[in-house]
Amino acid sequence: MPAQEMSDVLVVGSGIAGLAAALGAAREGSNVTLATKATRPEGASSWWAQGGIAVSRDDPEQFKADILAASDGTADPAAVDVLVENANEAVEDVLFDTLAVEFDQNGDGPDYTREAAHSEDRILHVDAATGKHIHVPFLNYLDAHESVEILDDTAALELIRHEGRIHGAMLESDGEVAPHYAGSVVLATGGIGELYGRTTNPDDATGDGIAMAALAGADVEDMEYVQFHPTVCIPDESRGDSTAGGVTADADGDVFLVSEAVRGEGGLLRNGGGERFMPDYHADAELAPRDVVARAVKAEREATGEVTLDVSPLDFAAEFPGLAERCADHGVDWESGIPVAPAEHFLCGGVAVDEYGRTTLDRLYAVGECSRTGVHGANRLASTSLLEGLVWGLRAGEDAAGRDVGRIDAPDLLDRDPDLPEKFARDKFHRLRRVMDEQLGVERDLDDLGRAMAVLRRLKGEVDAYVRTRTSRSLYELRHASVTALLVARHAAENDRSVGTHNLVTEPAEPPADD
Ligand code: SIN
Repeated sequence: MPAQEMSDVLVVGSGIAGLAAALGAAREGSNVTLATKATRPEGASSWWAQGGIAVSRDDPEQFKADILAASDGTADPAAVDVLVENANEAVEDVLFDTLAVEFDQNGDGPDYTREAAHSEDRILHVDAATGKHIHVPFLNYLDAHESVEILDDTAALELIRHEGRIHGAMLESDGEVAPHYAGSVVLATGGIGELYGRTTNPDDATGDGIAMAALAGADVEDMEYVQFHPTVCIPDESRGDSTAGGVTADADGDVFLVSEAVRGEGGLLRNGGGERFMPDYHADAELAPRDVVARAVKAEREATGEVTLDVSPLDFAAEFPGLAERCADHGVDWESGIPVAPAEHFLCGGVAVDEYGRTTLDRLYAVGECSRTGVHGANRLASTSLLEGLVWGLRAGEDAAGRDVGRIDAPDLLDRDPDLPEKFARDKFHRLRRVMDEQLGVERDLDDLGRAMAVLRRLKGEVDAYVRTRTSRSLYELRHASVTALLVARHAAENDRSVGTHNLVTEPAEPPADD
Protein backbone atom coordinates (compact mmCIF):
# COMPACT_ATOMS: atom_id res chain seq x y z
CA MET A 1 0.00 0.00 0.00
CA PRO A 2 1.44 3.44 -0.86
CA ALA A 3 2.79 5.08 2.31
CA GLN A 4 0.83 8.29 2.01
CA GLU A 5 -2.48 8.76 0.24
CA MET A 6 -2.51 12.50 -0.24
CA SER A 7 -0.01 15.16 -1.22
CA ASP A 8 0.10 18.65 -2.71
CA VAL A 9 1.89 17.39 -5.81
CA LEU A 10 2.09 13.83 -7.08
CA VAL A 11 4.93 13.25 -9.55
CA VAL A 12 4.87 10.01 -11.53
CA GLY A 13 8.29 8.95 -12.80
CA SER A 14 11.86 9.35 -11.59
CA GLY A 15 13.92 10.52 -14.57
CA ILE A 16 15.46 13.98 -14.58
CA ALA A 17 12.13 15.63 -15.51
CA GLY A 18 10.28 14.04 -12.60
CA LEU A 19 13.08 14.84 -10.18
CA ALA A 20 13.19 18.46 -11.37
CA ALA A 21 9.41 18.73 -10.99
CA ALA A 22 9.63 17.40 -7.44
CA LEU A 23 12.41 19.88 -6.68
CA GLY A 24 10.48 22.79 -8.22
CA ALA A 25 7.33 21.99 -6.22
CA ALA A 26 9.22 21.33 -2.96
CA ARG A 27 11.04 24.65 -3.28
CA GLU A 28 7.62 26.32 -3.44
CA GLY A 29 6.70 24.75 -0.11
CA SER A 30 4.60 21.85 -1.38
CA ASN A 31 4.79 18.36 -0.01
CA VAL A 32 5.55 16.05 -2.89
CA THR A 33 5.06 12.35 -3.46
CA LEU A 34 7.15 10.89 -6.25
CA ALA A 35 5.90 7.48 -7.39
CA THR A 36 8.11 5.43 -9.67
CA LYS A 37 7.96 1.91 -11.06
CA ALA A 38 11.74 1.79 -10.82
CA THR A 39 13.37 -0.18 -8.05
CA ARG A 40 16.84 1.16 -8.73
CA PRO A 41 18.22 4.27 -10.47
CA GLU A 42 18.81 2.30 -13.71
CA GLY A 43 15.03 2.06 -14.10
CA ALA A 44 14.93 5.62 -15.48
CA SER A 45 16.07 6.46 -19.02
CA SER A 46 17.96 9.49 -17.70
CA TRP A 47 20.38 7.17 -15.90
CA TRP A 48 21.35 5.73 -19.29
CA ALA A 49 21.96 9.06 -21.03
CA GLN A 50 25.47 9.05 -22.39
CA GLY A 51 26.34 12.12 -24.46
CA GLY A 52 25.49 14.90 -22.04
CA ILE A 53 23.45 18.01 -21.52
CA ALA A 54 23.64 20.88 -23.99
CA VAL A 55 23.68 24.47 -22.75
CA SER A 56 23.36 27.80 -24.53
CA ARG A 57 26.78 29.09 -23.40
CA ASP A 58 26.91 32.66 -24.71
CA ASP A 59 24.95 32.08 -27.90
CA PRO A 60 21.33 31.02 -27.32
CA GLU A 61 20.40 32.16 -30.83
CA GLN A 62 22.85 29.73 -32.43
CA PHE A 63 21.62 26.93 -30.16
CA LYS A 64 18.08 27.74 -31.25
CA ALA A 65 19.09 27.72 -34.92
CA ASP A 66 20.66 24.27 -34.50
CA ILE A 67 17.54 22.85 -32.82
CA LEU A 68 15.31 24.23 -35.57
CA ALA A 69 17.60 22.93 -38.31
CA ALA A 70 17.81 19.42 -36.80
CA SER A 71 14.02 19.34 -36.63
CA ASP A 72 13.80 20.24 -40.31
CA GLY A 73 12.08 23.48 -39.36
CA THR A 74 9.27 21.70 -37.52
CA ALA A 75 10.14 22.60 -33.91
CA ASP A 76 8.05 25.33 -32.29
CA PRO A 77 10.27 28.47 -32.12
CA ALA A 78 8.49 29.78 -29.00
CA ALA A 79 9.11 26.51 -27.14
CA VAL A 80 12.74 26.49 -28.30
CA ASP A 81 13.10 30.03 -26.89
CA VAL A 82 11.93 28.77 -23.50
CA LEU A 83 14.58 26.05 -23.64
CA VAL A 84 17.55 28.09 -24.80
CA GLU A 85 16.75 31.10 -22.61
CA ASN A 86 16.49 29.00 -19.44
CA ALA A 87 19.22 26.45 -20.19
CA ASN A 88 22.22 28.12 -18.57
CA GLU A 89 20.39 29.20 -15.44
CA ALA A 90 18.72 25.82 -14.83
CA VAL A 91 22.00 23.95 -15.27
CA GLU A 92 23.90 26.41 -13.06
CA ASP A 93 21.24 26.34 -10.36
CA VAL A 94 20.51 22.61 -10.16
CA LEU A 95 23.48 20.75 -11.60
CA PHE A 96 26.31 22.98 -10.39
CA ASP A 97 25.02 24.77 -7.29
CA THR A 98 22.56 22.24 -5.84
CA LEU A 99 24.01 18.87 -6.89
CA ALA A 100 27.68 19.77 -7.55
CA VAL A 101 27.86 17.47 -10.58
CA GLU A 102 31.50 17.05 -11.57
CA PHE A 103 31.42 17.49 -15.33
CA ASP A 104 34.60 16.70 -17.26
CA GLN A 105 37.02 19.63 -17.30
CA ASN A 106 39.87 20.75 -19.48
CA GLY A 107 42.51 23.38 -18.64
CA ASP A 108 40.02 26.24 -19.30
CA GLY A 109 36.96 24.97 -17.43
CA PRO A 110 34.20 22.56 -18.48
CA ASP A 111 35.15 20.33 -21.39
CA TYR A 112 32.28 21.15 -23.72
CA THR A 113 31.88 18.59 -26.48
CA ARG A 114 29.90 18.43 -29.70
CA GLU A 115 27.49 15.94 -31.22
CA ALA A 116 25.72 15.60 -34.54
CA ALA A 117 24.03 18.74 -35.91
CA HIS A 118 25.49 21.05 -33.24
CA SER A 119 27.46 23.91 -34.77
CA GLU A 120 29.61 24.45 -31.69
CA ASP A 121 30.97 22.65 -28.64
CA ARG A 122 28.26 23.17 -26.01
CA ILE A 123 27.63 19.80 -24.37
CA LEU A 124 28.55 19.26 -20.74
CA HIS A 125 29.39 15.64 -20.05
CA VAL A 126 30.98 13.12 -17.69
CA ASP A 127 32.85 10.63 -19.86
CA ALA A 128 29.99 9.17 -21.96
CA ALA A 129 27.99 8.33 -18.85
CA THR A 130 26.52 11.73 -18.04
CA GLY A 131 23.06 10.51 -17.08
CA LYS A 132 24.03 8.52 -14.03
CA HIS A 133 26.34 11.27 -12.76
CA ILE A 134 23.35 13.60 -12.67
CA HIS A 135 20.64 11.13 -11.77
CA VAL A 136 22.16 9.48 -8.71
CA PRO A 137 23.01 12.70 -6.82
CA PHE A 138 19.64 14.14 -7.80
CA LEU A 139 17.79 11.11 -6.39
CA ASN A 140 19.89 11.19 -3.23
CA TYR A 141 19.24 14.90 -2.78
CA LEU A 142 15.46 14.44 -3.01
CA ASP A 143 15.53 11.30 -0.90
CA ALA A 144 16.96 13.42 1.92
CA HIS A 145 14.52 16.31 1.33
CA GLU A 146 11.96 16.62 4.12
CA SER A 147 9.11 17.63 1.78
CA VAL A 148 9.60 14.82 -0.73
CA GLU A 149 8.58 11.21 -0.34
CA ILE A 150 9.80 8.74 -2.95
CA LEU A 151 7.72 5.60 -3.46
CA ASP A 152 9.65 3.14 -5.56
CA ASP A 153 8.26 -0.02 -7.14
CA THR A 154 4.96 1.85 -7.34
CA ALA A 155 3.00 2.14 -10.59
CA ALA A 156 0.32 4.64 -11.57
CA LEU A 157 -2.52 2.74 -13.24
CA GLU A 158 -5.11 5.44 -13.94
CA LEU A 159 -5.70 9.11 -13.33
CA ILE A 160 -8.54 10.17 -11.07
CA ARG A 161 -10.59 12.63 -13.06
CA HIS A 162 -13.76 14.55 -12.41
CA GLU A 163 -15.28 17.17 -14.73
CA GLY A 164 -12.08 17.97 -16.58
CA ARG A 165 -9.96 18.22 -13.43
CA ILE A 166 -7.38 15.69 -12.30
CA HIS A 167 -7.52 14.82 -8.61
CA GLY A 168 -4.77 12.22 -8.31
CA ALA A 169 -3.98 8.75 -9.54
CA MET A 170 -4.61 5.13 -8.68
CA LEU A 171 -1.30 3.74 -7.44
CA GLU A 172 -0.33 0.10 -7.28
CA SER A 173 2.35 -1.21 -4.98
CA ASP A 174 3.02 -4.80 -4.05
CA GLY A 175 -0.27 -5.88 -5.64
CA GLU A 176 -2.35 -3.38 -3.64
CA VAL A 177 -4.20 -0.59 -5.45
CA ALA A 178 -5.26 2.64 -3.72
CA PRO A 179 -6.16 6.20 -4.72
CA HIS A 180 -3.58 8.89 -4.13
CA TYR A 181 -5.18 12.35 -4.09
CA ALA A 182 -3.16 15.40 -5.04
CA GLY A 183 -3.57 19.09 -5.77
CA SER A 184 -1.75 18.50 -9.06
CA VAL A 185 -0.29 15.52 -10.87
CA VAL A 186 2.90 15.74 -12.92
CA LEU A 187 3.46 12.90 -15.38
CA ALA A 188 7.13 12.18 -16.07
CA THR A 189 6.94 8.58 -17.18
CA GLY A 190 9.47 8.66 -20.00
CA GLY A 191 9.35 6.95 -23.36
CA ILE A 192 7.97 4.03 -25.31
CA GLY A 193 10.97 1.77 -25.92
CA GLU A 194 9.11 -1.38 -24.88
CA LEU A 195 6.87 -0.99 -27.90
CA TYR A 196 9.82 -1.90 -30.14
CA GLY A 197 11.99 -4.95 -30.50
CA ARG A 198 15.23 -3.03 -30.17
CA THR A 199 15.52 0.00 -27.90
CA THR A 200 17.94 1.97 -25.76
CA ASN A 201 15.26 2.47 -23.08
CA PRO A 202 14.99 0.55 -19.82
CA ASP A 203 12.34 -2.19 -19.48
CA ASP A 204 9.64 -0.06 -17.92
CA ALA A 205 9.18 2.32 -20.86
CA THR A 206 5.62 1.35 -21.76
CA GLY A 207 4.15 4.79 -22.49
CA ASP A 208 2.19 4.86 -19.20
CA GLY A 209 1.87 8.63 -18.83
CA ILE A 210 0.85 9.19 -22.42
CA ALA A 211 -1.80 6.49 -22.27
CA MET A 212 -3.19 7.59 -18.91
CA ALA A 213 -3.39 11.21 -20.08
CA ALA A 214 -4.99 10.27 -23.40
CA LEU A 215 -7.53 7.98 -21.69
CA ALA A 216 -8.41 10.85 -19.34
CA GLY A 217 -9.01 13.10 -22.36
CA ALA A 218 -5.80 15.16 -22.62
CA ASP A 219 -4.51 16.20 -26.04
CA VAL A 220 -1.61 14.22 -27.43
CA GLU A 221 0.50 15.45 -30.36
CA ASP A 222 3.32 14.45 -32.71
CA MET A 223 3.19 10.77 -31.77
CA GLU A 224 4.46 9.74 -35.20
CA TYR A 225 7.85 11.30 -34.48
CA VAL A 226 9.69 8.34 -32.96
CA GLN A 227 13.44 8.86 -32.99
CA PHE A 228 15.78 5.96 -33.75
CA HIS A 229 19.39 6.27 -32.61
CA PRO A 230 21.68 5.28 -35.48
CA THR A 231 24.52 3.73 -33.51
CA VAL A 232 23.35 1.11 -31.09
CA CYS A 233 25.84 -1.71 -30.62
CA ILE A 234 24.45 -5.13 -31.50
CA PRO A 235 26.94 -7.50 -29.92
CA ASP A 236 25.25 -10.67 -31.18
CA GLU A 237 26.11 -9.77 -34.76
CA SER A 238 29.77 -9.38 -33.90
CA ARG A 239 29.66 -12.87 -32.41
CA GLY A 240 28.15 -14.18 -35.62
CA ASP A 241 24.67 -14.61 -34.10
CA SER A 242 22.26 -12.38 -35.93
CA THR A 243 19.09 -13.72 -34.33
CA ALA A 244 18.81 -10.71 -32.01
CA GLY A 245 16.48 -9.02 -34.51
CA GLY A 246 12.97 -9.52 -33.20
CA VAL A 247 13.61 -9.96 -29.51
CA THR A 248 13.33 -7.40 -26.82
CA ALA A 249 16.65 -5.91 -26.06
CA ASP A 250 17.00 -2.93 -23.78
CA ALA A 251 19.40 -0.72 -21.94
CA ASP A 252 19.91 -3.51 -19.48
CA GLY A 253 20.22 -6.24 -22.06
CA ASP A 254 22.23 -7.14 -25.08
CA VAL A 255 22.21 -3.98 -27.13
CA PHE A 256 23.62 -0.68 -25.92
CA LEU A 257 23.93 2.86 -27.09
CA VAL A 258 27.20 4.09 -28.56
CA SER A 259 27.00 7.81 -27.99
CA GLU A 260 26.92 10.26 -30.83
CA ALA A 261 29.80 11.89 -28.99
CA VAL A 262 32.00 9.12 -30.43
CA ARG A 263 31.22 10.43 -33.92
CA GLY A 264 31.62 13.96 -32.55
CA GLU A 265 35.20 13.01 -31.65
CA GLY A 266 35.96 11.48 -35.05
CA GLY A 267 34.33 8.02 -35.24
CA LEU A 268 33.47 6.95 -38.82
CA LEU A 269 30.71 4.74 -40.15
CA ARG A 270 31.69 1.98 -42.57
CA ASN A 271 29.54 -0.47 -44.47
CA GLY A 272 30.02 -4.21 -44.97
CA GLY A 273 32.56 -3.49 -47.72
CA GLY A 274 34.62 -1.31 -45.36
CA GLU A 275 33.58 1.87 -47.24
CA ARG A 276 32.84 5.11 -45.44
CA PHE A 277 29.37 6.06 -46.72
CA MET A 278 27.98 9.05 -44.81
CA PRO A 279 29.54 11.70 -47.12
CA ASP A 280 27.28 10.26 -49.87
CA TYR A 281 24.19 10.93 -47.76
CA HIS A 282 24.79 14.38 -46.23
CA ALA A 283 27.28 17.24 -46.36
CA ASP A 284 27.84 16.88 -42.60
CA ALA A 285 28.60 13.17 -43.03
CA GLU A 286 28.69 11.34 -39.65
CA LEU A 287 27.49 14.53 -37.94
CA ALA A 288 24.32 14.86 -40.01
CA PRO A 289 21.00 15.03 -38.11
CA ARG A 290 20.14 11.79 -36.34
CA ASP A 291 17.23 10.83 -38.59
CA VAL A 292 19.44 11.10 -41.68
CA VAL A 293 22.16 8.93 -40.16
CA ALA A 294 19.65 6.32 -38.92
CA ARG A 295 18.19 5.94 -42.42
CA ALA A 296 21.64 5.71 -43.98
CA VAL A 297 22.75 3.04 -41.49
CA LYS A 298 19.60 1.03 -42.18
CA ALA A 299 20.06 1.32 -45.95
CA GLU A 300 23.73 0.30 -45.82
CA ARG A 301 22.99 -2.64 -43.54
CA GLU A 302 20.40 -3.85 -45.99
CA ALA A 303 22.66 -3.33 -49.00
CA THR A 304 25.97 -4.59 -47.60
CA GLY A 305 25.11 -6.78 -44.60
CA GLU A 306 26.52 -4.71 -41.76
CA VAL A 307 27.63 -1.31 -40.55
CA THR A 308 30.44 -0.74 -38.11
CA LEU A 309 31.63 2.30 -36.21
CA ASP A 310 35.34 2.73 -36.84
CA VAL A 311 36.87 4.26 -33.71
CA SER A 312 40.47 4.16 -34.93
CA PRO A 313 40.59 7.95 -35.58
CA LEU A 314 40.29 8.57 -31.82
CA ASP A 315 41.83 7.25 -28.64
CA PHE A 316 38.65 5.33 -27.84
CA ALA A 317 39.75 3.60 -24.64
CA ALA A 318 41.09 6.86 -23.19
CA GLU A 319 38.23 9.11 -24.34
CA PHE A 320 35.35 6.67 -23.73
CA PRO A 321 36.56 4.24 -21.07
CA GLY A 322 33.03 3.27 -20.03
CA LEU A 323 32.05 2.35 -23.59
CA ALA A 324 35.30 0.47 -24.20
CA GLU A 325 34.59 -1.56 -21.08
CA ARG A 326 30.99 -2.19 -22.14
CA CYS A 327 32.22 -3.48 -25.52
CA ALA A 328 34.66 -5.80 -23.80
CA ASP A 329 31.93 -7.06 -21.43
CA HIS A 330 29.78 -7.92 -24.44
CA GLY A 331 32.57 -9.62 -26.38
CA VAL A 332 32.85 -6.81 -28.94
CA ASP A 333 36.36 -6.20 -30.26
CA TRP A 334 36.05 -2.45 -30.79
CA GLU A 335 39.43 -2.27 -32.51
CA SER A 336 37.85 -4.09 -35.48
CA GLY A 337 34.88 -1.70 -35.51
CA ILE A 338 31.72 -1.71 -33.40
CA PRO A 339 28.72 -3.38 -35.11
CA VAL A 340 25.82 -0.91 -35.01
CA ALA A 341 22.18 -0.64 -36.07
CA PRO A 342 19.38 1.86 -35.42
CA ALA A 343 17.20 1.28 -32.35
CA GLU A 344 14.22 3.10 -30.88
CA HIS A 345 15.57 5.85 -28.66
CA PHE A 346 13.23 8.78 -28.01
CA LEU A 347 9.66 9.88 -28.66
CA CYS A 348 9.60 13.51 -29.82
CA GLY A 349 5.83 13.84 -29.34
CA GLY A 350 3.63 13.02 -26.38
CA VAL A 351 1.12 14.76 -24.10
CA ALA A 352 0.65 18.29 -25.44
CA VAL A 353 1.87 20.91 -22.94
CA ASP A 354 2.51 24.65 -22.76
CA GLU A 355 5.61 26.45 -21.54
CA TYR A 356 4.88 25.39 -17.94
CA GLY A 357 4.17 21.76 -18.73
CA ARG A 358 0.41 22.28 -18.35
CA THR A 359 -1.67 19.78 -20.33
CA THR A 360 -5.16 20.48 -21.65
CA LEU A 361 -6.62 19.04 -18.41
CA ASP A 362 -6.80 21.12 -15.25
CA ARG A 363 -4.13 20.17 -12.64
CA LEU A 364 -2.42 17.72 -14.97
CA TYR A 365 1.15 18.38 -16.09
CA ALA A 366 3.50 16.38 -18.27
CA VAL A 367 7.28 16.78 -18.50
CA GLY A 368 10.23 15.05 -20.12
CA GLU A 369 9.91 12.41 -22.81
CA CYS A 370 6.21 11.71 -22.22
CA SER A 371 5.40 15.33 -23.04
CA ARG A 372 5.26 17.23 -26.28
CA THR A 373 6.62 20.71 -25.66
CA GLY A 374 7.27 21.47 -29.32
CA VAL A 375 11.05 21.73 -28.75
CA HIS A 376 11.87 18.70 -30.89
CA GLY A 377 9.40 18.88 -33.74
CA ALA A 378 9.97 15.91 -36.03
CA ASN A 379 13.55 15.20 -34.94
CA ARG A 380 15.36 15.94 -31.69
CA LEU A 381 18.83 17.49 -31.57
CA ALA A 382 21.29 15.40 -29.55
CA SER A 383 21.73 16.10 -25.83
CA THR A 384 18.63 18.27 -25.52
CA SER A 385 16.48 15.70 -23.70
CA LEU A 386 18.07 16.03 -20.25
CA LEU A 387 17.93 19.78 -20.68
CA GLU A 388 14.28 19.79 -21.69
CA GLY A 389 13.45 17.56 -18.72
CA LEU A 390 15.32 19.85 -16.35
CA VAL A 391 13.89 23.13 -17.64
CA TRP A 392 10.29 21.97 -18.00
CA GLY A 393 10.43 19.88 -14.85
CA LEU A 394 11.38 22.88 -12.71
CA ARG A 395 8.80 25.13 -14.35
CA ALA A 396 6.00 22.57 -14.07
CA GLY A 397 6.84 21.73 -10.46
CA GLU A 398 6.76 25.40 -9.48
CA ASP A 399 3.47 25.95 -11.32
CA ALA A 400 1.87 22.79 -9.92
CA ALA A 401 2.56 23.80 -6.32
CA GLY A 402 0.05 25.25 -3.91
CA ARG A 403 -3.23 23.85 -5.29
CA ASP A 404 -5.97 22.53 -3.05
CA VAL A 405 -6.44 18.77 -2.86
CA GLY A 406 -9.95 17.75 -3.86
CA ARG A 407 -11.27 14.29 -3.06
CA ILE A 408 -13.76 12.63 -5.33
CA ASP A 409 -14.75 9.02 -5.69
CA ALA A 410 -11.85 7.08 -7.15
CA PRO A 411 -12.46 4.78 -10.11
CA ASP A 412 -13.46 1.30 -9.09
CA LEU A 413 -10.52 -0.94 -9.86
CA LEU A 414 -11.32 -3.30 -7.05
CA ASP A 415 -12.80 -6.27 -8.85
CA ARG A 416 -9.40 -7.66 -9.45
CA ASP A 417 -7.77 -10.93 -10.17
CA PRO A 418 -4.02 -10.34 -10.22
CA ASP A 419 -3.32 -13.57 -12.06
CA LEU A 420 -2.86 -12.28 -15.55
CA PRO A 421 -1.79 -15.31 -17.56
CA GLU A 422 1.85 -14.69 -18.39
CA LYS A 423 1.40 -16.09 -21.88
CA PHE A 424 -1.37 -13.57 -22.60
CA ALA A 425 0.91 -10.58 -21.91
CA ARG A 426 3.87 -12.15 -23.71
CA ASP A 427 1.87 -12.95 -26.84
CA LYS A 428 0.23 -9.53 -26.99
CA PHE A 429 3.54 -7.70 -26.53
CA HIS A 430 5.09 -9.88 -29.21
CA ARG A 431 2.34 -8.99 -31.69
CA LEU A 432 2.48 -5.32 -30.79
CA ARG A 433 6.24 -5.12 -31.29
CA ARG A 434 6.06 -6.90 -34.60
CA VAL A 435 3.67 -4.27 -35.95
CA MET A 436 5.73 -1.40 -34.54
CA ASP A 437 9.02 -2.78 -35.88
CA GLU A 438 7.67 -3.62 -39.31
CA GLN A 439 5.31 -0.74 -39.95
CA LEU A 440 6.29 2.09 -37.62
CA GLY A 441 10.07 1.95 -37.68
CA VAL A 442 12.72 4.06 -39.41
CA GLU A 443 10.67 3.98 -42.62
CA ARG A 444 6.88 3.92 -43.01
CA ASP A 445 4.71 3.02 -45.93
CA LEU A 446 1.43 4.94 -45.90
CA ASP A 447 -0.30 1.99 -47.55
CA ASP A 448 0.59 -0.25 -44.57
CA LEU A 449 -0.45 2.09 -41.80
CA GLY A 450 -4.17 1.42 -42.10
CA ARG A 451 -3.48 -2.30 -41.63
CA ALA A 452 -1.17 -1.58 -38.70
CA MET A 453 -3.93 0.42 -37.05
CA ALA A 454 -6.44 -2.36 -37.57
CA VAL A 455 -4.16 -4.92 -35.88
CA LEU A 456 -3.38 -2.58 -33.00
CA ARG A 457 -7.04 -1.66 -32.53
CA ARG A 458 -7.95 -5.32 -32.29
CA LEU A 459 -5.15 -5.95 -29.85
CA LYS A 460 -6.21 -3.02 -27.68
CA GLY A 461 -9.77 -4.40 -27.67
CA GLU A 462 -8.54 -7.77 -26.40
CA VAL A 463 -6.51 -6.08 -23.65
CA ASP A 464 -9.44 -3.82 -22.67
CA ALA A 465 -11.62 -6.88 -22.20
CA TYR A 466 -9.16 -8.16 -19.59
CA VAL A 467 -8.94 -4.74 -17.90
CA ARG A 468 -12.68 -4.92 -17.15
CA THR A 469 -12.13 -7.84 -14.79
CA ARG A 470 -8.54 -7.69 -13.70
CA THR A 471 -6.17 -5.15 -12.15
CA SER A 472 -2.50 -5.99 -12.26
CA ARG A 473 0.53 -3.89 -13.05
CA SER A 474 1.56 -6.00 -16.02
CA LEU A 475 -1.93 -5.82 -17.49
CA TYR A 476 -1.98 -2.03 -17.16
CA GLU A 477 1.47 -1.79 -18.72
CA LEU A 478 0.15 -3.80 -21.63
CA ARG A 479 -2.90 -1.57 -21.79
CA HIS A 480 -0.75 1.57 -21.78
CA ALA A 481 1.52 0.10 -24.45
CA SER A 482 -1.44 -0.80 -26.67
CA VAL A 483 -3.05 2.64 -26.30
CA THR A 484 0.27 4.35 -27.02
CA ALA A 485 1.06 2.13 -30.01
CA LEU A 486 -2.33 2.91 -31.50
CA LEU A 487 -1.69 6.63 -31.03
CA VAL A 488 1.66 6.33 -32.84
CA ALA A 489 0.00 4.45 -35.70
CA ARG A 490 -2.94 6.84 -35.93
CA HIS A 491 -0.78 9.96 -35.97
CA ALA A 492 1.53 8.37 -38.55
CA ALA A 493 -1.40 7.42 -40.77
CA GLU A 494 -2.79 10.94 -40.56
CA ASN A 495 0.47 12.63 -41.56
CA ASP A 496 1.30 12.35 -45.25
CA ARG A 497 4.27 14.71 -45.02
CA SER A 498 7.58 12.87 -44.94
CA VAL A 499 9.71 14.84 -42.49
CA GLY A 500 12.36 14.13 -39.86
CA THR A 501 11.74 10.84 -38.10
CA HIS A 502 8.46 10.29 -39.96
CA ASN A 503 10.01 9.01 -43.16
CA LEU A 504 7.52 7.85 -45.77
CA VAL A 505 8.68 5.50 -48.48
CA THR A 506 5.48 5.92 -50.49
CA GLU A 507 4.04 9.27 -51.35
CA PRO A 508 0.32 9.89 -50.80
CA ALA A 509 -1.77 9.24 -53.91
CA GLU A 510 -2.38 12.33 -56.04
CA PRO A 511 -6.02 13.41 -55.99
CA PRO A 512 -7.67 12.70 -59.35
CA ALA A 513 -7.31 15.64 -61.75
CA ASP A 514 -10.47 17.63 -62.42
CA ASP A 515 -11.82 17.20 -65.94
C1 SIN B 1 23.94 9.99 -27.40
O1 SIN B 1 24.79 10.05 -26.51
O2 SIN B 1 24.21 9.75 -28.57
C2 SIN B 1 22.52 10.22 -27.05
C3 SIN B 1 22.32 11.62 -26.73
C4 SIN B 1 20.90 11.97 -26.89
O3 SIN B 1 20.06 11.12 -27.14
O4 SIN B 1 20.59 13.16 -26.81
